[in-house]
Amino acid sequence: MKLRVRSVTWEAEGILSFELVHPEGLPLPVFEAGAHIDVRIPGGLSRRYSLCNTPGERTHYRIAVLRVPESRGGSRAMHERVHAGDFIEASEPRNFFPLDDSAGHALLLAGGIGVTPLLAMVERLQASGRPFAMHYCTTSPERTAFAGRLQPLAAQGIVTHHHDRGDPRNGLDIARLLRDPAPGTHLYYCGPAGFMKAVKAASAHWPAGTVHFEYFGAEPQAAPVNVGACADTVPVHLLRSGRTVQVSPVQTLLQALRDAGVECESSCEAGVCGTCRVDYSEGEPEHNDLILNEEERARSVLLCCGRARTPLSLDL
Ligand code: FES
Repeated sequence: MKLRVRSVTWEAEGILSFELVHPEGLPLPVFEAGAHIDVRIPGGLSRRYSLCNTPGERTHYRIAVLRVPESRGGSRAMHERVHAGDFIEASEPRNFFPLDDSAGHALLLAGGIGVTPLLAMVERLQASGRPFAMHYCTTSPERTAFAGRLQPLAAQGIVTHHHDRGDPRNGLDIARLLRDPAPGTHLYYCGPAGFMKAVKAASAHWPAGTVHFEYFGAEPQAAPVNVGACADTVPVHLLRSGRTVQVSPVQTLLQALRDAGVECESSCEAGVCGTCRVDYSEGEPEHNDLILNEEERARSVLLCCGRARTPLSLDL
């Protein structure tokens, strides 16, 4: 889609939001809480941004971008080169982080700019009258985007802010908060790497299917090259087409399949979105993704970061 940037808003220190509209004022494709769009950034990069306005709103999309000095240039280009009135290209919304409508209670944990998909969830949960609580962790009030929007909920004690001033020991005690999962509660979390690691560890004992998360800003997975265990190419059989593709130890499955001319869908190519997920029926792939649980890994592999350890049969 071609979209016009209608406005750019300063949300907090280092964070801008971009309001995107259809160039002719037409309604945009509908989106659900947790959805994102892939945006083509000046310079040819593509980045995934969660939609943080109210789900179902079709007049505009809002995305928020934290300027990351050590990034590969995506956030800097958005901050420096995208202005009101510009046109940008974006994908239609896709959702790899949906709310589970069967959950009795939702617990939302946001780390920094990871608040964006959770903001849309807050709107959705409020509109449907479902109970929830949110903990929003940032370094300081100055770096807390959308605090004004959350203020009425903070006043009611539904949203709690935690500012650690750069030292996680001063912030939310995540392990304590997640120690005893209440029956029927689902956990949703998104934030930077250290935050994700802490929440993942603290929620490892939660019941299967109750923990949902999304990584943002993930760099492509530098999947370990397991040369010692797999010195030769390995045949990967494609069950639907009947083809066999040889995969070398230095290739991901996606690279090998594309080199062989097999069309495969992908998006993040970092093992975080699930677009390239494919079922397998024989063999044992090497998983390097960040999103599949053990049960899912027993039947599926993410091609963009997975490798062939043994001969494999893929549902392709
Ligand atoms: Fe996103 Fe593979 S393309 S997980």
